Amino acid sequence: MSLLIVSPGKDPKPWVKALQNQHPGLNIYVYPEEHDKEEVDFVLAWKHPRGLFKNYPNLKVIASMGAGVDHITSDSELPENIQITKVVDNMLEEDMGNFVLSLILNYQRNLLIYQKQQAEKTWNPVTYKRNKDVNVGVLGLGHLGQTTAKTLAKNGFKVHGFSKTPKNIENIESFSGEDEMEAFLEKSEILVNLLPLTPETKNILNKGLFEKLPEGAYVINVARGEHLVELDLIEMLDKDHLSGAAMDVFRQEPLPEDHPFWEHPKVFITPHIASVTHPNYVVPQIVENYERMKEDEPLKNVVEREKGY
Ligand code: NDP
Ligand code: OXD
Repeated sequence: MSLLIVSPGKDPKPWVKALQNQHPGLNIYVYPEEHDKEEVDFVLAWKHPRGLFKNYPNLKVIASMGAGVDHITSDSELPENIQITKVVDNMLEEDMGNFVLSLILNYQRNLLIYQKQQAEKTWNPVTYKRNKDVNVGVLGLGHLGQTTAKTLAKNGFKVHGFSKTPKNIENIESFSGEDEMEAFLEKSEILVNLLPLTPETKNILNKGLFEKLPEGAYVINVARGEHLVELDLIEMLDKDHLSGAAMDVFRQEPLPEDHPFWEHPKVFITPHIASVTHPNYVVPQIVENYERMKEDEPLKNVVEREKGY
């Protein structure tokens, strides 16, 4: 029995170290080093080569190194009977909440405007709205979305959220299902995307959705680049229907040098850094699931394959 790390998109070394500390007897391989495929029953993955896992006859579990699992579920050759797990971690949730709060305060208190003014030695105070007068809509009320919504509410924002199923969260107005999408969008002066990437949510941030947001709305995408139709965003920014956008994730990462977002005056770019999984914090849940798999016990943080999250 062995655990295989397949992470062309992430440095495996801190994961190996954390796994060895947590479970000294564990036999670990790092792809693509030489290994016996029949021995591997558990994989820890981030952006694996497509089709790879069909060659592992005894594989039972693929654990994502992050909260997102689209990098696994998008593999059309994934064997049917394998369980997929994701990371659920308080620190990851807290980091996301704080990051989104920072982006919102940055926008609302005009800090980027003052940074430009400083470069031009200009003194020009701009009026601002108070938190209590701003409606923030959070798309996706899962682990990260809920903590983010609560962080914003604690900081005085009026927060509402949208999810597949209705939620009952103190101080957060809940919207759910297709019928309530329009009402959710109409009051989102700031829209935060924290949906998982699934066939249903791909390209969800498009012109039709932006048109339903109030004039001058601000859009934050901290989920996945493929949620966004990039040219639709640029069109809506250029028409002044949207006042700006903060983008942490992109269809192609790193963002290509010639991408129009880099120089767009209304786009604020960060390099997929909103909330980063720290191996030391999450390896205990990986090891626990490894042990559960061996004992034939139910795993934690399992992804529902039909839903894709
Ligand atoms: P969860 O699976 O916990 O939550 C997903 C939420 O989205 C749920 O509330 C779910 O509704 C809702 N949802 C899913 N599909 C739909 C739909 N079609 N319509 C409406 N609501 C829907 O995800 P997490 O909170 O753990 O993570 C969210 C995403 O954040 C990840 O998938 C990843 O892409 C991204 N991420 C980004 C990071 C970064 O640094 N930028 C870091 C980590 C994650 P319901 O509750 O009803 O099921
Ligand atoms: C994740 C991410 O999904 O870092 O954890 O995007």
